[in-house]
This record gives sequence, structure tokens and C-alpha cells, in this order.
Amino acid sequence: MTTRVWDYLAEYENERLDILDAVETVFNSGQLVLGGSVRGFEAEFAAYHGVDHCVGLDNGTNAIKLGLQALGIGPGDEVITVSNTAAPTVVAIDSTGATPVFVDVRADDYLMDTGQAAAAITERTRCLLPVHLYGQCVDMAPLQELAARHGLAVLEDCAQAHGARQGGTLAGTTGDAAAFSFYPTKVLGAYGDGGATITSDESVARRLRRLRYYGMEDRYYTLQTPAHNSRLDEVQAEILRRKLRRLDTYVAGRRAVAQRYADGLAGTGLELPRTAPGNEHVYYVYVVRHPRRDDIIERLKAYDIHLNISYPWPVHTMAGFAHLGYAKGSLPVTEALAGEIFSLPMYPSLSHDLQDKVIHAVREVLAAL
Ligand SMILES: Cc1ncc(COP(=O)(O)O)c(C=O)c1O
Repeated sequence: MTTRVWDYLAEYENERLDILDAVETVFNSGQLVLGGSVRGFEAEFAAYHGVDHCVGLDNGTNAIKLGLQALGIGPGDEVITVSNTAAPTVVAIDSTGATPVFVDVRADDYLMDTGQAAAAITERTRCLLPVHLYGQCVDMAPLQELAARHGLAVLEDCAQAHGARQGGTLAGTTGDAAAFSFYPTKVLGAYGDGGATITSDESVARRLRRLRYYGMEDRYYTLQTPAHNSRLDEVQAEILRRKLRRLDTYVAGRRAVAQRYADGLAGTGLELPRTAPGNEHVYYVYVVRHPRRDDIIERLKAYDIHLNISYPWPVHTMAGFAHLGYAKGSLPVTEALAGEIFSLPMYPSLSHDLQDKVIHAVREVLAAL
């Protein structure tokens, strides 16, 4: 049987009655759009984070885009982020009319090099957008200090970091706002698309509510900026409410898989994920590194194990972002990583047998290299 890099079917088998009950609850509620389930999820997700507001949105890309717009970012502004991220981080910035400015990542944990962020600030910089990639937080203290010194907004991309902590503080609660994706693979995943932006700033939350609803302040009256429809679906919201109660269990499950991998793969020459001091990693993906990555992946095909690469093409080298003007070689750590990293199967319901199958296969392939 193929071991997939991500699979929800075992989880669905365990949670089926609750998920189906969530669907039925919405269908019986009499309100199919922006009803009690979206309001309930928003209140519970905000409470989980200890922030004042959560605005449910249709996906994580729009959670970033609308988050930036609600913070007042738009054409002519620069937003500092990384190229070692999922393309939608950059799609979202670009679609506001602002200019994404890339800095490199650190060679040990592959997260934003905050020293380079300081050097990238110009008079047009308006926002810092750290991406808490793979499930652990970017070092936030230097970014907060830079933001305070230069009057910048901070929007955290938490699409991969639900439940992650730094110094005990939850991801998404340090900056001015934070964007989440609930794409099914995520640590908190829906059964379809979903997203949310959280903030404790009342005016930012108000703008977000307007931006997800055609720009309307009240029903049928578009105030100031016309916008699109970016509402979180009511069924997905109810499923997310149920799953939010289990978020800490999902995180514990992912950590247990990571620990088994770390124990089983120690001493193989494979570079395993490193957790920065003070961070509590949630292992959205389990990213390992080896200079002979392509050979390893090729040989692992014989074991019927699916692997993934997050990400094989740095965003600044993609043809679709050529207009940003980054030459190859401009972000050397990011570019080197793209040729050497790959991800092992990772999800909380991954069985011990499958974990052992992965460990055994990787050990055998590496020994024979
Ligand atoms: C880091 C990051 N940012 C943004 C997104 C966009 O989220 P979505 O797919 O829900 O639009 C994703 C997920 O794909 C992501 O991993």
C-alpha cells in the first residue's frame, strides 16, 4: 500500500460521526451563509488565541491579502517577507498592489533571517510579513523591535503554524494581525477551503469584515472600497469548531511522529528538522535535508512511499514572479535548500507501522547511497 505524505482518511474514520453531525447541524440551522457556525468558530478561534477578533475567510491566501489591506497596505508599499514559502504568501502581497521584498532564510531552521529584514527596510517599507514555515515561529522579538522603530505593521503568516508557540506565546498573537489557512492538509484543516485573520485591533477587524463582504459596512451598502466575496463557508466553520477542540491533540500526535522519526533516523547523515530555542514546533511538515536528495527520492519510489518537497522552486525564481526582478543567486540559502530538502509523511493519524516503514526505507536507501 502506498504511504502518502498526507492522508485524512484514517482521521475521518475516527471522527466521522462528529464531522457528519457538523454538516447536519448547519443544514438544519436555517442559515447557510455567515450564520451561527461562522460566528461560533470566530469566537472560539479568537478565544483559543486570547485575541479580541477573528474574521473567517474563504482561504489562507485571502486571509493574508485582506489582512494586509485591513492594515492599510497597498500600491506603492513594500512588504518584507521570504521566498522560502508557499507561493500564495507572495501572490497575496502582489495582489494588493504592494511590492514583496525578499530576504533570505537561516541555514539551520530555514526561517526568515531577521538581520536581513532590518537591512531591507527602505522609506517605502510598510509591513513585515514573517512566515512561520513548516510549523515553527520566526524569531519575533527583533521583528517587533524593527516594527516599533520604523512604524511598520506586522502580519504573521500562520498557515503552517496553528498551535505553535514561541516563549510560550501562541503563533499569531505577537504581530498586529495573523493569517491562517484551513486547507485540509493544515494542522487545523477543514474538509475543503477555509481561512481566517485574527487581530486585537477593533478597526482592523471591522475593515476585514467589510473586505470579505463586497466592501459593505451594512447589508446592501458598499462603503468606500468595493471588495470581493471572501466569506468562510458555514459548513467548513462548523467542522472547524469541532476540530479546534482537538487541535492540541493533533499537535501532540504530530510531535510524537516527529520524535519517532528523530529517534529512528539519528546518525544516518540526513539533516533532521531543528527547533530554534524557545520554539514549540507543530510539524506541519517534517522537512529533512540531504545533498543527494534527488537520488534518495528516486530510490524511495521502490518502497511505495510518497514524498513531497516544500518547496522545489523558490518563489523569486518562478516565471510568474519575474516582474519582481530577482536574479538567480540573489537568495543563496533559499536556493540551496530548494535542491536538497524533502518532506517525510506527516499527519497525526500516521500509524506506527507506517512510521516504521518510512524509517526502515530511508535508513536502507541512505546506507546504500
Ligand atoms: C505559508 C502559506 N501561506 C499561505 C497559504 C495559502 O493558504 P490557502 O491554500 O488556504 O489559500 C499556504 C497554504 O497553501 C501556506 O502554506
